[in-house]
Amino acid sequence: MEKKQKRSSFSGGIGFVMAAAGSAVGLGNIWRFPYLAAKDGGGVFLLVYVILAVTFGFTLLTTEIAIGRKTRQGPLTAYSRIHKKFGFIGFLGFLVPVIILPYYCAIGGWVFKYLSLYVTNTQDIAVADEYFSSYITGFPEPVIWMLIYFAITAVIIILGVNKGIERYSKILMPILVVMVIVIAVFSMTLSYTDADGVTRTGLEGLGHYFIPDFSGMTIQDFLIVVMDAMGQLFFSISVAMGIMVAYGSYMPKETNMQKSVNHIEIFDTGIALLAGMMIIPAVFVFAGLDGMSAGPGLIFVSLPKVFDAMGIAGKVLGPLFFIVLAFAAITSSISIMEAIVSSLMDKFHWSRLKSSLIVCVYAAIMGVIVCLGYNYLYFEQALPNGTVGQILDVMDFLSNNWLMPLVGLLTSILIGWVVKPDMIIEEVTQGKVRFKRKGLYIVMIKFVVPILLFILLLQSFGLF
Ligand code: PHE
Repeated sequence: MEKKQKRSSFSGGIGFVMAAAGSAVGLGNIWRFPYLAAKDGGGVFLLVYVILAVTFGFTLLTTEIAIGRKTRQGPLTAYSRIHKKFGFIGFLGFLVPVIILPYYCAIGGWVFKYLSLYVTNTQDIAVADEYFSSYITGFPEPVIWMLIYFAITAVIIILGVNKGIERYSKILMPILVVMVIVIAVFSMTLSYTDADGVTRTGLEGLGHYFIPDFSGMTIQDFLIVVMDAMGQLFFSISVAMGIMVAYGSYMPKETNMQKSVNHIEIFDTGIALLAGMMIIPAVFVFAGLDGMSAGPGLIFVSLPKVFDAMGIAGKVLGPLFFIVLAFAAITSSISIMEAIVSSLMDKFHWSRLKSSLIVCVYAAIMGVIVCLGYNYLYFEQALPNGTVGQILDVMDFLSNNWLMPLVGLLTSILIGWVVKPDMIIEEVTQGKVRFKRKGLYIVMIKFVVPILLFILLLQSFGLF
């Protein structure tokens, strides 16, 4: 009975879009997107990402939401309802948030640490280049902040008040957008002359971000960009991990699914693009093209410099920015944890408390291991996308470059070839809605998605 009520709890399109956006917009947009874009040469990455968003993003979001709405099931059971033999896709999808949760909390902890610096007006130390790496390689502070961040996520899930929290998204997300725009505009006005007497400006940096430069790029390099952009797309719009299936299962039949998909995509991609405009010109100005490959630390190294250059305005914007970023991160991590907890509840019929506590023990232990990856457990692992990573990067690569493309590939085979796209099209056109991109959808789900994901998977396994 309770389940029935829960299954229709979104108040139409807006309720759905807000919840899905709360899950989608998070560290992926502000932290992950800019550092990948910078690493992969700005413009080329941007172009590839946007093309993938309107093709792959649209196809996979539509598919997953439709599967959820059609079956009215969470991911662990939805796929087997569609086809008995394909239930394991739900299980593979379930593993994705299991891998992401601990390292997401580690980054959430970094955000909290920076927030604490800004609210106590001690942010000046963070302007120095080496501050970030000395912080994360330290002990025990990163562990403590990770645990604080995780505890907040966990308490929200245990009390079951996530819906209430997500409601604040309506107010805070627009604030986030405005702040990112203000910071982006400021970034473009920056200019800096380094020790060699070279002056670099924010506008030049913006050029690197927007203008694709294919010169000197090999096919191999280009495939790496596509692989990075694809992994980022999956991560950012929260597909290929069952979350959108679960959200779809709560979506009322009369909601226009296409509109919702468009809104989520525009919102999520828009924020990512803006975040790049805020970070990349600043990185270029202060660190030049060489500084672009800084990796996961990028925003933590460059944003303090931007706020510092802003003077008084930075003292106000800095703390505000980290508050809103922390909020956006929390709304995403509660959706990650909720995905695991609700799957355990569905599967084993455990109570919310029991499922949550088990996830807590797991995530706390794994979270500590991720933090220790920068000191006691330090190693250097070369990854197929040309980077060298620690535990966090390896887990990130595993979920976004292996598991998610695999889930996407299997889903496209199931829908494109086994049960046929008509099943999804029927669900999208409920209530006599016209499916405007039906032709694109069919070509994508049958041919483009499986073929490209297959190629990218081979590449992610380092096979070429
Ligand atoms: N999409 C979220 C972000 O961009 C992260 C996320 C990953 C959320 C996996 C849910 C599941 O930060």
